[in-house]
Amino acid sequence: MVADRRDTENLVIDALLYQNDRMYTQALDTPGSDADALDEQALELRFLARVDAEQKIEPKDWMPARYRNTLIRQISQHAHSEIVGMLPEGNWITRAPSLKRKAILIAKVQDEGGHGAYLYSAAETLGVSRDQLIDQLLSGKAKYSSIFNYPTPTWADVGAIGWLVDGAAIMNQIPLCRCSYGPYARAMVRVCREESFHQRQGYDLMLQLAQGTAEQKKMAQTALDRWWWPALMMFGPSDANSTHSAESTRWKIKRFSNDELRQKFVDFTVPQAEFLGLTIPDPLLRWNEPAQRYDFGPIDWSEFEQVLKGNGPCNAERLAARRDAHAQGAWVREAASAYAEKRKHHAG
Ligand SMILES: [Fe+2]
Ligand SMILES: [Fe+2]
Repeated sequence: MVADRRDTENLVIDALLYQNDRMYTQALDTPGSDADALDEQALELRFLARVDAEQKIEPKDWMPARYRNTLIRQISQHAHSEIVGMLPEGNWITRAPSLKRKAILIAKVQDEGGHGAYLYSAAETLGVSRDQLIDQLLSGKAKYSSIFNYPTPTWADVGAIGWLVDGAAIMNQIPLCRCSYGPYARAMVRVCREESFHQRQGYDLMLQLAQGTAEQKKMAQTALDRWWWPALMMFGPSDANSTHSAESTRWKIKRFSNDELRQKFVDFTVPQAEFLGLTIPDPLLRWNEPAQRYDFGPIDWSEFEQVLKGNGPCNAERLAARRDAHAQGAWVREAASAYAEKRKHHAG
């Protein structure tokens, strides 16, 4: 282990020396080159060498502005998704069918709030304030995962969300545990552990319904029909239409493409649906023996676009709920600030 690490360090040092040499030779070749621009370029090369060597980039390290902005966008969208994601299921806390299910659901929704809090903190390490991020969400400027703009009309939707939405989230987030930005990667480790509990409680709920009365089984099937395609859309546009992918892959923020992750999710989930005795609502879904994967039908991207533009079934309702909660929580924030101020005076 120690020898391996020394080797990696030596490789990085060599890469840096080589790159520095090249920088200076190029500088000599380019009359009138700007020293600042040169510094910037050298810093970027060193940054890329560190990313290549799988070293974590930390908040105080130099990083390209585009890397910083990509992370702020991605981490804050992720944080908003966790917080807005509390709403569709939170809707069922008062109506959960048993005390046990209520306790599980409260814990799950509370976990999502915690995920939002970790992620806002991770975004703040990049020099953006939480107030700015919350403003962006409440003004409708920031995006969050389009999946949370779908309604939860029955109790089975709570199961379908845990099974499919948290299942898709795990697929997306496990590779993020190895993301090049340290605070994001570390937040993801704990988040993924909790997501796996969420996925299992959702599957357990679906299993109970699927093995219940004919009416309960139908409820589970209808929920699967509602959530299947939106869950596939959670992986984002197909690779051919994905705008941010190439740079994010270069920077090791992204490890797999949208289509690769979507395929993994389908391959993982289809046998689970079979075990439940439920039918995935896709007539084109079939096992492809030579490729060892499931082929599936085309995704209706026009629906995805509409939800992203704010025209999904619950976009307005979700934002209104967040704005209300923010307004109603103003006194708590003020009280906490006043208390912190008072403590500071006492300490001083
Ligand atoms: Fe979460
Ligand atoms: Fe979750």
